[in-house]
Amino acid sequence: MFTDGSGGMELAGAGFVDTGYVKKRSNEAVPIGLKIGSTRTVLVMPNYEGSLDIVRTLTCVARYRDLFTGKLATKFGDEAAEEYADSVYFMFRAGLPQDDDSVKLAAQFIEYLVYRYNIPENSYVTLAHPAVENERGRKNLKEIISGMSIGRTGRQAWSEAFCGAIPAFEGLEAIKKTFMSVNMGSTTLEISAFRNGEPVHTVTLGTISGNLVDRKIRLGVQNETQGIVNIDLNTARKYKEEFANFIDYKPVYDSVHIHDRGQYGFKIEKSIMKPVEEYVNNVIEAIMENFFPQLAQDHYQTYKRVLTEPIILTGGMACIPGLRERIQQMLCDELEQKVTVISSERPDLAPAIGAFRISEYTLNYKE
Ligand SMILES: Nc1ncnc2c1ncn2[C@@H]1O[C@H](COP(=O)(O)OP(=O)(O)OP(=O)(O)O)[C@@H](O)[C@H]1O
Ligand SMILES: [Mg+2]
Repeated sequence: MFTDGSGGMELAGAGFVDTGYVKKRSNEAVPIGLKIGSTRTVLVMPNYEGSLDIVRTLTCVARYRDLFTGKLATKFGDEAAEEYADSVYFMFRAGLPQDDDSVKLAAQFIEYLVYRYNIPENSYVTLAHPAVENERGRKNLKEIISGMSIGRTGRQAWSEAFCGAIPAFEGLEAIKKTFMSVNMGSTTLEISAFRNGEPVHTVTLGTISGNLVDRKIRLGVQNETQGIVNIDLNTARKYKEEFANFIDYKPVYDSVHIHDRGQYGFKIEKSIMKPVEEYVNNVIEAIMENFFPQLAQDHYQTYKRVLTEPIILTGGMACIPGLRERIQQMLCDELEQKVTVISSERPDLAPAIGAFRISEYTLNYKE
């Protein structure tokens, strides 16, 4: 079953609170996949029916003063975003936490997930994490992982770009391959070449992101309606997620209530796809001008090799219908050779599912 954090208690309870799997097989460690992205966190665990429970929530925290105790209290995830939209804080905004306070918040956030979704201590946890760019980030990541109360049987961490590639290949084939993965997230674009699970070369760009597309959509709608309609970023993101489509894009009709005018209907023709097209062009440019030249210079054989293997797309932006085909076509044109671009069915969930597969495999292997 799939549970969206925004679905509230009822759905989450149905999937998690009574996880029969844990009760029935209480002596066995449970494999867990956890992806903590800058915007979205995805948790994957097995249920007793033999399928997977998947939870998605926002990676955020809100602090407020408890009026009874007078003490500072915290709320996490979608609940925090809904109630404290004005003051909510995304602790992974710039990749991994860089300061002590964010490390503490990240650790608290994980413990919130453990409690909220009943993740058993007797588990094997694989964490898919955002790109780690420096020593500080690496050290903080280690600290967060070693501080978790779950994963008593074992814990490991892999980059999101790698975990996201696993469901696109057969089984755990990704571990034995040399391939390239493009992680299209909300705050960063991460392009990596992997060889037997090791990153050989990585380029991370904060200037090409889903969030930037949302900002452009918001401005576009304002322009297209002569300044009459001002949507917020959340609405812009929803327009993108619902309507962006390279195969079959139709103009979007919506209406808002405007002071003095009453209900105002409007049509959006270009404001969604234009920023999305620009995004894709920027992704291609980053691959062609930032990623490939350096990879070819430092690791020529790997460069040659990744072009013969499927190129993986992962991350939420890869969900846009037709985006994969568009990227494949553009890369073939630019490279003047045939390359194949693939992604799993749900690229937004892929890193967490991949992380889960690693846990499952490691547990089976241990037995
Ligand atoms: N179905 C969809 N269609 C279009 N865009 C989508 C869809 N689902 C998610 N996205 C977009 O993908 C982005 C989120 O992707 P993802 O969950 O991979 O990011 P993240 O891992 O939280 O961020 P980062 O990788 O930057 O740390 C957001 O911009 C979101 O709007
Ligand atoms: Mg991500």
